[in-house]
Amino acid sequence: MRIIRTKNYEDMSRKAAAIIAAQVIHKPDCVLGLATGGTPVGTYKNLVAWYNAGDLDFAEVKTVNLDEYRNLPREHQESYWSFMHRNLFDHVNIPADKINLPNGNNQDAEAECAAYDAVIASLGGVDLQLLGIGHDGHIGFNEPSDAFDLGTHCVDLTDETIEANKRFFNSKDEVPRQAYTMGTGTIMNARKVLMIVSGKDKAEIVKKAFFGPVTPQVPASILQMHPNFVLVADEDALSLV
Ligand code: GLP
Repeated sequence: MRIIRTKNYEDMSRKAAAIIAAQVIHKPDCVLGLATGGTPVGTYKNLVAWYNAGDLDFAEVKTVNLDEYRNLPREHQESYWSFMHRNLFDHVNIPADKINLPNGNNQDAEAECAAYDAVIASLGGVDLQLLGIGHDGHIGFNEPSDAFDLGTHCVDLTDETIEANKRFFNSKDEVPRQAYTMGTGTIMNARKVLMIVSGKDKAEIVKKAFFGPVTPQVPASILQMHPNFVLVADEDALSLV
């Protein structure tokens, strides 16, 4: 595990974007695992700026997103499909048919999860997986549980996650209760994992996840065992370690 300490959110965003840019330059046809949430917005902004400046080309890049809400129309502005288009896909040249997210509107959870795992396998796995972290230690939507899940699966979101994500909706009632998410096994199989964390409110979970025991009760803790894991975190997020 490598920890890169940054001054603040902007510095974290630039450094994380630089790591992703290096991946794309080294391997133009790489598979990028992408994440949603408030944290990656600045990282995506930098990638878009460097693309506009002619420094980055995504023409051969393929993407797989970590997760998607279940039963939220794809066009809803808070679906992860919409989030990704608004923050990245609409502004760079990743071919539309190379963009992959779970289909949250497939009612057959088992079929959808198996299909998504098959897509990831057919791409040869993930070269670089970007991650944020939830306050309860979730990655993607892998919530605290008694065991690590391997492949894509359907999850019931915890009350803490619903509470945290209600800021994006008109009310808590509108937050979907379930999601499809890549499993911890798939995340661990990524050749490189890049986690970004910012803010004092994440300091407690950063300490627990990366300076405490590895346990499925804190899903991100398993990343301590990943051979190529980089944590880019700002001073506030690292203030307790
Ligand atoms: C959501 C996403 C996660 C993300 C987490 C933290 O639940 N499924 O992928 O890491 O929120 O979000 P934020 O970066 O807004 O704190």
